Amino acid sequence: MEKLNVGVLISGRGSNLQALLDACAAPDFPARIALVFSNVPSAGGLARAKEAGVPTCVMDHQQFPDRGSFEEALHGELTKAGVELVCLAGFMRLLTDGFVGRWRDRLINIHPSLLPAFPGLHAHDRVIAYGARFSGCTVHYVREAMDDGPIIAQAVVPVHPDDDADRLAARVLAEEHRIYPFAVRLIAFGRTRVNGERVIITDARPPSAALLNPELD
Ligand code: GRF
Repeated sequence: MEKLNVGVLISGRGSNLQALLDACAAPDFPARIALVFSNVPSAGGLARAKEAGVPTCVMDHQQFPDRGSFEEALHGELTKAGVELVCLAGFMRLLTDGFVGRWRDRLINIHPSLLPAFPGLHAHDRVIAYGARFSGCTVHYVREAMDDGPIIAQAVVPVHPDDDADRLAARVLAEEHRIYPFAVRLIAFGRTRVNGERVIITDARPPSAALLNPELD
C-alpha cells in the first residue's frame, strides 16, 4: 500500500503524537510518520518518536532571527523528509500566513474544544466558566487565523457539574486520541475534499442520536 507521508509538529508531551504513532504501527493504516519536528528541545514527545524509530528534528525557534527564517528552515526539513501532510499536535508556535499558504489543505490541527467555540489557550477553563454543557475536540485544516479553518472531524463530551479544567481535559484528550488518527486516515484515503470553507467527506454519515445534558434522575 502506498502510504501518505506525515510530518508531526510538537512542542510538548506529545500524547497526540503517540496516538498517531500507534495508529501508524498498524500495517493497514494508510499513513506513516516521516518526521517529528519540535521547536522545543526538551519536548517529551521527542522520546516517543525515538522509541518508535521515527526520525526527529529539533530547531529551537529562539535561535532564529525571525519567524520567516525559522519557518523557511522548517519547510526545508518537511520537504526533505518527503512530507505530504503536516499535523500540528500541540505545536505552540503561531505560523505565518506565508507558511500556512504554502501548505494550504495539507496542514491540519487538533484543538481541544468544539470550534469555532473557545479557540486559543485555556479552552477548558473557559468552557467551565461559561457553563457550557458539552465540549469536545476538533480536527481542522489550518487557515491564517488561529484555531480556524475547515472542520474535518469533531468529538463531543459532556461537561460534568464538578469538572475542573484537568478533569475535563482528560475526558476531551481521550477523544483527541481517537479523532486525530481517524482524520488522518480519511485524508490518506482521499476521502476529504475542501469545498469553500467546508470539508466534504465521501461515504460518511452523521450519528443518529442527539445528546442532551443534563439528564434528570
Ligand atoms: C492537546 O490538547 C491539543 O488538542 C492541543 O494541545 C494539546 C497537546 O497535547 N492543541 P499533547 O502534546 O498531544 O499531549
